[in-house]
Amino acid sequence: MKPVTIGLLGLGTVGQGVANILTRNAAEIERRTGRSIRLTRAAVRNKAKAEALNLGIDITTDAQSLVSDPDIDIVCEAMGGDDPALSLLHSAIANGKHVITANKALIAVHGNELFRAASEKGVTIAFESAVAGGIPIIKALREGLTANRIEWLVGIINGTGNFILSEMAEKGRTFDDVLAEAQELGYAEADPTFDVEGIDAAHKLAIMASVAFGMPLQFDAVYTEGISQITREDVEFAEELGYRIKHLGVARRRKEGVELRVHPTLIPERRLLANVNGVMNAIVVHGDAVGPTLYYGAGAGSEPTGSAMVADIIDAVRCLDADPAHRVPTLAFQPDALTPHVMLDT
Ligand code: HSE
Repeated sequence: MKPVTIGLLGLGTVGQGVANILTRNAAEIERRTGRSIRLTRAAVRNKAKAEALNLGIDITTDAQSLVSDPDIDIVCEAMGGDDPALSLLHSAIANGKHVITANKALIAVHGNELFRAASEKGVTIAFESAVAGGIPIIKALREGLTANRIEWLVGIINGTGNFILSEMAEKGRTFDDVLAEAQELGYAEADPTFDVEGIDAAHKLAIMASVAFGMPLQFDAVYTEGISQITREDVEFAEELGYRIKHLGVARRRKEGVELRVHPTLIPERRLLANVNGVMNAIVVHGDAVGPTLYYGAGAGSEPTGSAMVADIIDAVRCLDADPAHRVPTLAFQPDALTPHVMLDT
């Protein structure tokens, strides 16, 4: 059977993780899917830098040509930002490509319109890598917990912020010093304000809430407070009192709608979430049947995020030959099935 071809938009931290995993685990992935999967093209801003990676693929600066390339089956977006990512994804969908993205800002803000376009075209959009790095939380919410009415979810969902708070608490380092290291390690967003002001966590919370509660994406409804005002003294005082400061995203079903909030929180030091440190993320999801469940793993980084993106690629490959009615449900978004509104109750 003909190999499935992947075109990658962006070859930064996440894109390189995807390329490495697809190469290293090619035989295993082929055994699992029955198809050979080949990364054949990548569109980048800096061609010389990308060519120096020696991936043996076609490198172009013309992203538009990649999303309309008839030889590409699946487009993976790991470039970040709104422009040109949004128009490229629309073009990819219009060209009948299945689309995978790690772009949480794009999904949180423009997801409703992208899902509608994909649904009309009969293609799928997958975004596991957009939330909580390598943790398969979208799959857990959409598949593993699908028998449940989700009551609430609470999570540490920004790796950079958790790295900063942990290093301040454990090693007495300063905020700015740790943030600089998070940037060097490729954890932070291109604009780190997104991490430290809670915007990145709000994007991820809006996405998880949409899946968990079956409602449209409502990023603007998230109460958002970051960690930029937290000082070393705050962290030390919290410790003296037996608490850790953690930056949480909370989504809770209420009578009036769904409460969505992101803010720093004092957590007693014996609790599980208080002991999630470094770049790790953790999410507790409470379903009416199953009770509380916990998901833990690296929240950022090249291969953890690449792992989630490649999982989406594998799902999409399994869908390629399937009747649209029998596609893996993780990829088939149903806009009509959503609850019409969400209310903020802080
Ligand atoms: N900047 C993000 C974080 C990257 O630190 O969590 C992963 O989404």
